[in-house]
Formats: sequence, C-alpha cells, structure tokens
Amino acid sequence: MQPILEIRDAVRVFKTPEGGAVRALDGVNLDVDANEFVTLLGPSGCGKTTLLRAIAGFEDLDDGQVRVDGADLRRVPAFRRPVNTVFQSYALFSHMSVARNVAYALEVAGVGKDERTRRAGELLELVGLEGMETRKPSQLSGGQKQRVALARALISQPKILLLDEPLSALDRQLRQQMQVELKNLQDEVGVSFVFVTHDQEEALTMSDRIVVMCDGRIEQTGTPREIYRKPKSRFVANFIGETNMIKVTFDGKGTATSVEGIILKVSEAAPAGRATAVLRPSDLTLSDSKNAPAHAILGKVRQEIYLGAELHYLIEADAGGEYWRVTAKDEGVGFHTGQSVALSYDPDVIHLIEGDA
Ligand SMILES: Nc1ncnc2c1ncn2[C@@H]1O[C@H](COP(=O)(O)OP(=O)(O)O)[C@@H](O)[C@H]1O
Ligand SMILES: [Mg+2]
Repeated sequence: MQPILEIRDAVRVFKTPEGGAVRALDGVNLDVDANEFVTLLGPSGCGKTTLLRAIAGFEDLDDGQVRVDGADLRRVPAFRRPVNTVFQSYALFSHMSVARNVAYALEVAGVGKDERTRRAGELLELVGLEGMETRKPSQLSGGQKQRVALARALISQPKILLLDEPLSALDRQLRQQMQVELKNLQDEVGVSFVFVTHDQEEALTMSDRIVVMCDGRIEQTGTPREIYRKPKSRFVANFIGETNMIKVTFDGKGTATSVEGIILKVSEAAPAGRATAVLRPSDLTLSDSKNAPAHAILGKVRQEIYLGAELHYLIEADAGGEYWRVTAKDEGVGFHTGQSVALSYDPDVIHLIEGDA
C-alpha cells in the first residue's frame, strides 16, 4: 500500500541573525500511512514545527520532497494542499458563531447554506459540541475552542491533519481527556494525523507510531512500545520516560558487567562489547537484603518519595556508581532511608544499546 505522505531527504536551513545557519531539517525521511496517527516528538528546537510547515506548504524545503498520495507538492500552494493544520492558538474568528467558524472553508468554497449547516452540525456532534452552534468563541472554554478548531480543520475533508502542540495550552486533566478523545476522533474520521508534541506521555498515549527527532534529524521511528522498550540511543531512552542507564561491557552470552563490577543478566541477543543497559524504574523490584534473590543488586535506600499510588526510591548500590531509580506500588510497607535492600529484575526486560556513547 502506498503511504499517504512521503517525506524524502527533507532539508531546511535557516540563516540566524548572528550570521550562522541552523539545519532545522537535516535529511528527514518519513512515511505516513492512510489512517495512521503519527507523533513527532522531540525537545524544543528539534525541527518539529518546521517539518509540519513544510508539509502544509507554509515553508519551502531547500532540498528534498513532500509527496501526498504519490504527488510531489513542490509547486502546490498551501491552500490547495489536501492537508489542514490545527494550531495551539486555536485561531478562531472571534466575531463569528461556532457553526460559521466550523463551516468557514465551505463558505469560501461557495457551498450552499443548507449543506454547510448540515456538515458543520455533523462535525460539531463528532467533537461533542452539539447545541453550541450559535455561541461565539469567547463563550467557550479552552477545551471547547480546541474542539471547534478541530471541527473546522476537518470540514474540508483533508487527507492529512497536522496538529502542532494543540493541547499544550490546556490544563493537565483536560489534556489527558483530550488525548483520548483525539485518538477516538482520528479512528472515526479515518484521516491521517501528524501530531507534534514535546510531551512523551502524550506521544505514548495517542500514537500508532512515534517519530523521535533531535537536531533536525529523526533519531528513531517505532510503535510506542518499541520506542519505550527498545530505544536505539541514549537520547531516545532519556527522552521517553525515566530510566536507569548503566554503562556495561557485554560478553555476548547473557552477562553484562558495569564499570563498578555490577553483574546484570540479559536475555536480549546482542553482540559482545561496550553497551548501555536500559532498565526502567518500574522494572526493578525492591526487597529486603536478607531475602535477596539470585542476581540481585545489593544497596541502600538513599531517598524515598511518596507520590500517592506510587513510591519512588533512589538506591545506592554497594558497588557504587549512579543511584538507581526504582518505582514501586504503594502496598502499605515501604522501605526507609538507610535500609539495606536488594534490587531484582527479569532479565527479559533489560535492553542493550550498543556502543560507547
Ligand atoms: N524562520 C526562522 N528563522 C530562523 N530560524 C528558525 C526559523 N524557524 C525555525 N528556526 C530554527 O530552526 C530550528 C527548529 O525550529 P522548530 O521547527 O520551530 O522547532 P520545534 O518546533 O521542534 O521546537 C530552531 O533552532 C529554530 O530556532
Ligand atoms: Mg514547534
């Protein structure tokens, strides 16, 4: 099946006022399938917005191609592209009603009033705003405005919807609710979504695939589970959630040894040599050192943080090295600072990133 969107060797260089140059896109290649929810994830300044703008036609590429449905869009102006964008700042027309905002693209295209009303009504129902047709944007909450912006972007039936950090202005609870709603909406309308965020939780919650970007390049593309469980680099491992990263030497046969001499049992197949072992805090189990299981790491509790459902611990291994981060469910019995403990894990969950870096 042909991807709906193909980015080929995209390069965009900006001159800086200081006389230098920034490679905002530095050879980006990406395919997005029909119906897919793809998230561009990365720190501020890594090129996410530039890539969206290049797809939308607001930004020219210095090199490379954007293709939609196989057609090169180089000479196609933004308003003729089969894509639409939802911005963080809603960008609604404040003097128009909700219904007219939503139907605006149809009005411009000369579609008759009855059809405009019908289609705007359908979309408002889809985003849960039925009954609010006659309100003005100032009479809506932030979440409702964002829903109007979504409906408005979908009414022209784009093949791809581009969303640039659309939830970042909302408070945490509403953001989490909108994450679920957005994913459901995408399933229902069957449009491909390219969603930009710097929030790893948002990316994990909604995406079919996550594209992790760094300095104008794609670091890794994969399902949320692949990105979380099998990061290809320390950058990706660090960016997606908390993690323990231990520099080790791997013997190629299941045993990794840290600089401090801590032995880790690893099931994953990997070549012998230097590597970084990645272990998520929730993959470690704490027990009292008196009942230490085989292959456990012995240490002492240096800090305990109570977070309601979860407890976070920092553990100093007796062998030394960086503190280990451990999360545990709050099951009534915690471990206290100074206590001798054993850290154990399932060898299946340890992931090795090859190399020295
Ligand atoms: N119009 C511009 N002129 C100069 N530099 C720009 C311009 N737009 C973006 N940049 C630079 O390009 C890089 C990528 O920016 P951007 O795509 O906005 O990143 P992100 O959306 O991931 O935060 C940044 O270093 C930014 O400063
Ligand atoms: Mg941006």
